[in-house]
Amino acid sequence: MYAVRMHAFGDPDVLQFEEVDKPSPGRKQVLVEVHAASVNPVDWKIREGKYPVVQERDLPIVPGRDIAGKVVELGEDVTDVKIGQQVFAFLDMETGGYGDYVAVNVGYLSPKPRELTMTEAAAVPLAAMTAGQGLFDCGGLRRGQRVLIHGGAGGVGHLAIQLAKTRGAWVATTVSQLDIDFVTRLGADQVVDYESERFEEVVRPVDLVLDLIGGDTQDRSFEVLVSGGRLVSTLNEPDVEKAREYGVRATGFMAKPNGKQLYAIAQFIDQGQIRVEVQRTYPLSQAGQAQEVQKMEHSRGKTVLEVRH
Ligand SMILES: NC(=O)c1ccc[n+]([C@@H]2O[C@H](COP(=O)([O-])OP(=O)(O)OC[C@H]3O[C@@H](n4cnc5c(N)ncnc54)[C@H](OP(=O)(O)O)[C@@H]3O)[C@@H](O)[C@H]2O)c1
Repeated sequence: MYAVRMHAFGDPDVLQFEEVDKPSPGRKQVLVEVHAASVNPVDWKIREGKYPVVQERDLPIVPGRDIAGKVVELGEDVTDVKIGQQVFAFLDMETGGYGDYVAVNVGYLSPKPRELTMTEAAAVPLAAMTAGQGLFDCGGLRRGQRVLIHGGAGGVGHLAIQLAKTRGAWVATTVSQLDIDFVTRLGADQVVDYESERFEEVVRPVDLVLDLIGGDTQDRSFEVLVSGGRLVSTLNEPDVEKAREYGVRATGFMAKPNGKQLYAIAQFIDQGQIRVEVQRTYPLSQAGQAQEVQKMEHSRGKTVLEVRH
């Protein structure tokens, strides 16, 4: 089989399209023929050696944290998945999606949403799990509460807006001017252009901030929280001293694969309550270019690598 693999940290040239051994599914794993794999910011952070979880000693690795494809082989003790089934999955750090095949733990996958193509389905798992776990598991968002989502037009943000609406929350979001109409159509109740307005001056206090941006945006977010509110960040552990000063809770978190949660997302998609935006597609052999464009250019929704057509 072929895969994109990196043997060193560095610029996009370290991603090599090469022949590698086909994995065998272990106990409670299935082998998936990958049809599409999405590109996430974590992929280029790892490639650049800026993601501490992956060190030099872990190389070479096949990048890629989410895929859609077809089950072609069952490992031991797999009872509830069938050969030929179309699935999608958020992978752990042990495996990578940028290749022809990947062995996936059955607990990480779900039947693919019927309404989506393989390319669209691959765009969903990591971003949707991050959105859902950030809003509900870490953020405790409940019906009728108010949430501010920073970076609402990106891969995670555009799904977070829609998921928060399915729970009956009121949603404000920060985006660039280009994306105001896009996130309004997704259901955002208040949209703030981060380049021309200061969100802390125009958004009334919220119960939760989902921070997908970090830095100064995260620092200023304490000002828009109600007393007892929460700040949840995908970037880093927020300043605990500042949280205490403002009387709020603040936490960083790392999304985890979860097939049951992914199945719930698939149902929302098939019921038409959540839609996924695929902004760009590339063939697998152009993974380096796909990562660079994802990093450097305006992001609205997701970038996906097409592995099989
Ligand atoms: N901890 C975890 O488990 C986890 C999981 C997923 C993602 N993440 C991290 O979360 C971040 C977001 O991920 P993603 O996949 O959604 O990234 P993405 O698709 O690149 O989206 C980022 C979005 O943020 C917008 N943006 C940039 N600066 C902004 C600002 N100051 N205010 C508001 N919006 C701004 C961008 O719009 P423009 O292009 O118009 O600037 C873009 O739409 C990344 O850093 C990623 O590594 C962490």
